[in-house]
This record gives sequence, structure tokens and C-alpha cells, in this order.
Amino acid sequence: MELKQALYGRRSVRAYSPEPVDRAVIAELIDAAIQAPSGMNRQPWAFGVVCDRQALADLDAKAKAHLLSILTDDSPMAGYRSRLEQDDFHLFYGAPALVVIYTKPNGVTANVDTCLAAQNLMLAAYERGLGSCWIGFSMFYLGTPAAAAELGIPEGYAPAASIILGRPATDVPPVPRETPEILFDR
Ligand SMILES: Cc1cc2nc3c(=O)[nH]c(=O)nc-3n(C[C@H](O)[C@H](O)[C@H](O)COP(=O)(O)O)c2cc1C
Repeated sequence: MELKQALYGRRSVRAYSPEPVDRAVIAELIDAAIQAPSGMNRQPWAFGVVCDRQALADLDAKAKAHLLSILTDDSPMAGYRSRLEQDDFHLFYGAPALVVIYTKPNGVTANVDTCLAAQNLMLAAYERGLGSCWIGFSMFYLGTPAAAAELGIPEGYAPAASIILGRPATDVPPVPRETPEILFDR
């Protein structure tokens, strides 16, 4: 696939076929992720993978309940409350796989580095015909001590990106971009 096609064609996918994602493919996507640059080459990333349907559904339910419990009226996400309260709304949209990227304590620019890795992973997924979507809504629960204990996350590691993967159930139309603001062009 041409790089331009990947850059312009990747979309956030919110409807998935139940077809599982091969573990070997996930390993390839993680390998693509770690080709990202990192500050001082610290490579301060670590990965968690969930493909088990029940584990994904449990995590989804916990993350959704936690988000609703902390959502305040002045939050930028407050407008999503009624959607989140619907029983048939699932943070992971029924995707068959989830990859969480964690920052490691050795990082100097770990949050930036993990975001670069996340974009690599999403573009590599798209190249393989897989959809993806970064699920920021799930990050609040993933960052709790309860989630860290449940998932066996070492001290000092923090969730930075949470990305669902799977075969898209439908085509996703392009999402228009605003004209970029050019602050200087000397
Ligand atoms: C940091 C971040 C958090 C996001 N969180 C969510 C989310 O929780 N749920 C969701 O459906 N989409 C989420 N998205 C996807 C964005 O809504 C999406 O990227 C945006 O609408 C542009 O669409 P595109 O990715 O198809 O270009 C998130 C994207 C980013 C980068």
C-alpha cells in the first residue's frame, strides 16, 4: 500500500465483524509500532493485548461504568453521558481485539513516543485490511490502580493509548479536515 493511501484512507472504525484478529498479525502490528522514533531512543513502550471476548466485554463494562462515575457536567465529555448510559453502547464497539500501549518509567518523552507508536500501529492495521480506533474513553479506567492490579501492570507504567482492532463491518466515509492554521511562513 502506498503511504499516501494509508495516511488518507485510515479511519476510526466503530463497527466490527466478530472475526478474531490473528495473534500473529497483532505481533506484526506491535513490531510496526516499535519502529516509531523515541526521545533519546529510550523506546519507553510496553503493550497489553486482549483478544478474549469475555475479558474484552468485562473491561468494556468496567471502563464504561468508571467513566460514568467520574463524568462531571463541566467535563468536555459531558455531552456523551446519555450515549454512555445506553446499555447497547460499548466503548470498544464489539471489536475483537484491544491493544493498550503503556509508557515505561525509562522514558524521557514517553507520552509522545507512545503516541507515535500508536499511529504506526493503526496505519499498519489499515494496510492489513483491519480497522482501528483509539478509545480515549477507556483510558480513565485503565489508569486506575484497580485496572493496573487486574492486568498485572508493573509500578511506574502508565496507559498511553488504547486501540481496538478488527475487520470493519462497514465502510467508513472520509472525515473532512479543517484548513490547517499556518502560524508562520517566512
Ligand atoms: C486521543 C484520541 C482519543 C480518542 N478517543 C475516542 C473514543 O473514546 N471513542 C471513539 O469512538 N473515538 C475516539 N477517537 C477517534 C476520533 O474521534 C477520530 O480520530 C476523529 O473523529 C477523526 O476521525 P478519523 O480517525 O476517522 O480520521 C479518539 C482519537 C484520539 C486521537
